[in-house]
Amino acid sequence: MIGFRRFSIPITILPQIWDLLSSLSALQSSGKAWCRPGQKAIFSRGSTWGIAEAVRTLLKSRNKNRGIVFLPDYFCNHALIPLRLQQVQLVFYPITENLNPDWSLLNDLVSQYGSPDMFILVHYFGFPAEITKVIQFCRQVGAELLEDAAHVLIPFGDIGKHSWGTVFSPYKLLPVPKIGILVTSENREIIHETYDKKKRVDINTWKWIGKRLLQSFLTHYKISWRSQKVIPFELDTEARFEENSPVNILSLQLLKILESKLESYKTTRRMYYKNVEEQILSINNDVASPLFPSLPEGVCPYLFPIRLDQNIIEYVYYRLNAVGIPAQMWPALPAEVKEKPFGHKIAIKLRESILTIPIHQSLTKHHIECIVSNLRDAIRESLQTK
Ligand SMILES: Cc1ncc(COP(=O)(O)O)c(C=O)c1O
Repeated sequence: MIGFRRFSIPITILPQIWDLLSSLSALQSSGKAWCRPGQKAIFSRGSTWGIAEAVRTLLKSRNKNRGIVFLPDYFCNHALIPLRLQQVQLVFYPITENLNPDWSLLNDLVSQYGSPDMFILVHYFGFPAEITKVIQFCRQVGAELLEDAAHVLIPFGDIGKHSWGTVFSPYKLLPVPKIGILVTSENREIIHETYDKKKRVDINTWKWIGKRLLQSFLTHYKISWRSQKVIPFELDTEARFEENSPVNILSLQLLKILESKLESYKTTRRMYYKNVEEQILSINNDVASPLFPSLPEGVCPYLFPIRLDQNIIEYVYYRLNAVGIPAQMWPALPAEVKEKPFGHKIAIKLRESILTIPIHQSLTKHHIECIVSNLRDAIRESLQTK
């Protein structure tokens, strides 16, 4: 639905027309930009499928029909749909306030459920998780490590270096149709969940291009295309689930064109992140703070996650969305986590107290100014009404 609001801040990343045109004659991405030496990239329709393919391949190499996967309790439920179709027991390990595994509980989980075949570690919002301890744990229990780097633009530091595999979701940070990448050793034969011959374009890609062009036009003329209806705060949102299908050639050509711009996208995202961070830190309050204490070198932030007091988050959420700033909550947690609130206190608390703000490269400086001034006002107003 199209409507007019004070600001029209796009939640989606918009492609440049010139990039779309150039991609028609470009080479296809091989995914090598996401690989270390000796690794290869396998494309799918999102990390959801890459995770399922990694687990299926690992279990086959272990000659097992059934397996155990450990994964964090702060996880999107919809990303587990393909994995749930396999014979695997999912064990949700609690995380701590700094989004790392809660080490005080992991050995108990091993005693209760057995050693995992695969251990999934998430690098939330593009910030690297503590990997050294996880590697030691995996060695100790005979598990393989799968890094979930769905929020990471490109590997840096230790990300993707020491694990069995790493999944990326370039479409979350780049203006490309839905593409996921599973990176693993080049000697490993990955079992695809479904795979046909590559088509040059499919209907979804055309739809994506048409939609993005229209959104770019509307954004340019400051017309908001987002529905005026804001998703109710208390509602658990589930992203639309998409079947796996081959990633078509045009998407890979566009990805190739964008690979040369990754550094500049990272610079822009870091700059916008710091603008929002400065603004939050400048308000002297104990109700709003950045989720991460700092922005380490090399990190390309996916979104800006803000930790808000549970008494004000709902106010800030509606206040920002009402003026067209797409503030969002983390999507639905898995039912197993919601059903046991006592065992997953922190994941549930994070789900209820973190709001994310877009800081992507399609935003203009003017958009960011609107975001920071409204955010500051929303926090101040909420302090008065508290
Ligand atoms: C941490 C994490 N991993 C995996 C996924 C699934 O990614 P995709 O949309 O590429 O399937 C998500 C979804 O948003 C996610 O937040």
